[in-house]
Amino acid sequence: MNSSTPVIRTHDLTKRFKKLTAVDEVNFEVHQGEVFGFLGPNGAGKTTTIAMLLGLVRPTTGSAEVLGHDIRRDLSVALRRVGAIVETPAFYPYMSGIDNLRLFARIDGGDTEKQIPAIIEQVGLKGRGKDKVGTYSQGMRQRLGLGAALLGGPELLILDEPTNGLDPAGMQEMRVLIRRLSDEEGKTVFLSSHLLHEVEQVCDRVLILNKGQVIAQGEVEELLSQAHALELRIEGVEKAAEVLSNLDWVQGTSHEGDWLHIQAPPERAPELLSALASHSLFPFEVRPIVSTLESVFLDLTNERAEETDA
Ligand SMILES: Nc1ncnc2c1ncn2[C@@H]1O[C@H](COP(=O)(O)OP(=O)(O)O)[C@@H](O)[C@H]1O
Ligand SMILES: [Mg+2]
Repeated sequence: MNSSTPVIRTHDLTKRFKKLTAVDEVNFEVHQGEVFGFLGPNGAGKTTTIAMLLGLVRPTTGSAEVLGHDIRRDLSVALRRVGAIVETPAFYPYMSGIDNLRLFARIDGGDTEKQIPAIIEQVGLKGRGKDKVGTYSQGMRQRLGLGAALLGGPELLILDEPTNGLDPAGMQEMRVLIRRLSDEEGKTVFLSSHLLHEVEQVCDRVLILNKGQVIAQGEVEELLSQAHALELRIEGVEKAAEVLSNLDWVQGTSHEGDWLHIQAPPERAPELLSALASHSLFPFEVRPIVSTLESVFLDLTNERAEETDA
């Protein structure tokens, strides 16, 4: 596998459970060194996709490669280079964090055990490694889970909702940790989440999954900029809409009362106003609408709902 081969690539990956299509012809690529966000509401099909990537569930149709290996054929070769957290990792509460990791390391074999002190430090458990896991907070357990995923020095981390059940501080620690693993150690991270702001903060690229289908994917910045818009209040909205529709960087307009909603970058407001002025149209008010990933997501899922209803 050379550096341009995607770390994960899916081809119409599909999983059906009887009548339910949990994952519906999903296509995406994850590149080396990036933090890729797999975003979707509960039931979207995130865990099912991850389970297929890890060989825990067989695809109904379609396929995928992990680190260049076909998941239907030689996945076990690839999995030696993958660390994963699916569901909340289970540990023995009466054993220390370090001893729990030792147990995992023995299963892994090799000299994985030697990595434990560095991993304990890396996941911020230095000083607590010898304490029983039963005394750990949820956040510490989750970080120990990440520590277990790091055993064996994987190139790729697949994390299914790694901040689930954590308080805001614990979530923030986890995000910082994930970002550092990517920035400082060059690890590729595939991270699922149902939390938009989380993905917005930690990921380079994001895919939005809804009811098993991909509804958007791209760079976080790009998805956000597409949704930027502005609104103006003007007499003669219809005329104004017509004038603005002729500008090639205006993606669309709609109006309600005397408010005109314009899909265009807010920073182009001066050009917009000058175009209107040349037709003797002068707005009373202009305001930018800066979108969050949340509004993008809601727009996309609403569009989908309307398409399906129609
Ligand atoms: N083993 C299974 N048998 C039947 N349905 C399943 C099974 N696993 C998941 N599902 C269904 O598939 C859909 C996607 O689930 P899941 O992948 O867990 O979503 P997510 O992780 O995004 O919340 C859900 O409707 C869920 O009920
Ligand atoms: Mg899930």
